[in-house]
Amino acid sequence: MSLKIDEDLIQPKILALGASPRKDGNSDILLRHFCAGANQAGVETEKIQLRDLEFTPCVGCELCRKTGACTRFDDDLTAIYPKIIESRGLFLISPVHNYNVTAWMKGFIDRLYCFYNFAEPRPGHWDSELDNQGRKAIVAAVCEQETKRDMGFTLEAMQMPLEALGYEVREALPVLGVFEKGKVTEYADVLQAAENAGTALARTIRP
Ligand SMILES: Cc1cc2nc3c(=O)[nH]c(=O)nc-3n(C[C@H](O)[C@H](O)[C@H](O)COP(=O)(O)O)c2cc1C
Repeated sequence: MSLKIDEDLIQPKILALGASPRKDGNSDILLRHFCAGANQAGVETEKIQLRDLEFTPCVGCELCRKTGACTRFDDDLTAIYPKIIESRGLFLISPVHNYNVTAWMKGFIDRLYCFYNFAEPRPGHWDSELDNQGRKAIVAAVCEQETKRDMGFTLEAMQMPLEALGYEVREALPVLGVFEKGKVTEYADVLQAAENAGTALARTIRP
């Protein structure tokens, strides 16, 4: 069984999800600049901070194979699924925690498992309910250290699942060398890069 998305539901808007536990930290600031850039290009954005939501990580119960949706939990992610479906654009930003996305981002991404369709017997063919709908995304990550290597797998940990789910990831933006809360405000070029990314994504999803 599958979710069967009605393509008329898909709007030229961007859902922007932040995964830092630190309110008003570097990821929050960049997310705001990203959205400002998208808004300037005439595209509506909705910002959600995953730390504000109560949700359980995927427990692998496979109930979504039978029902086509995550029916195991009725938590704060339940209301986010329709927003994902309706938004042609998606922006994900996470600080780097131990070379990877934060637990909030990982928990969120795993709960997107309900969008997949798997043919039996497994492993076999699989696809996604979000495939072939012109969905586009940008991912971004912020870290303290100064080389891309110190960022570890963070950008890939968002980009790879989004591509598997059917998004075209237009840009993976690394922000390096930023440690203290709010430090990124001192780097006008980085704020501008986030704004430019918002504008660029908006232009690809506008009618
Ligand atoms: C638990 C934890 C793990 C971290 N791991 C890394 C790391 O592996 N590499 C790195 O460069 N920075 C690491 N940092 C630093 C943060 O990525 C950095 O301070 C970032 O600016 C935080 O973004 P935020 O203000 O949006 O929360 C870590 C911070 C914490 C709290």
